[in-house]
Amino acid sequence: MASEKTLILVKPDGVQRKLIGTIIGRIENKGLSIVAMKMLTVTPELSKQHYAEHVEKPFYPDLEGFITSAPVVALIVQGPEAVSVMRTLIGSTNGREAAPGTIRGDYGCSRQMNMIHGSDSVESATREIDIYFTANEICDYDVTLGSWMCAPDEL
Ligand code: RTP
Ligand code: MG
Repeated sequence: MASEKTLILVKPDGVQRKLIGTIIGRIENKGLSIVAMKMLTVTPELSKQHYAEHVEKPFYPDLEGFITSAPVVALIVQGPEAVSVMRTLIGSTNGREAAPGTIRGDYGCSRQMNMIHGSDSVESATREIDIYFTANEICDYDVTLGSWMCAPDEL
């Protein structure tokens, strides 16, 4: 089982609704580690890079308008199978369909204002991390509680 890094954004609605702490708390409670974090405002150019797979889709102009409308908090989250663990914790895209217990299921009922982004694959995570962070912004530190969070064969 591999330790992975994934790119997480607390989206503009999460920042405006003062859910940054709640969302970070959910990630930390799960046992994953934050290894980089910053606040920034996404520009239209950055949005097109991040959401390259969606740029030609009819909903893209609304998506760009939303993601650039207020600051976001970008994080790199690390841990065993962090990409899929975070997608499960985040829940389905549309908050109305997201399961209770997930972040989107517990705090919203919108498809656009769904509070958090998480990379959808290890390949996407690598690409997205490179868009938001430089190598020297990533803190690879020892998690001293690590041996109480997972057995050796799970890391
Ligand atoms: P995200 O990338 O933001 O974490 O969300 P996701 O993987 O759950 O969903 P994705 O398919 O990648 O879509 C990116 C964002 O675009 C908006 N969307 N609108 N109107 C529509 O049909 C539609 N489909 C997607 C959502 O805000 C979604 O988070
Ligand atoms: Mg996506």
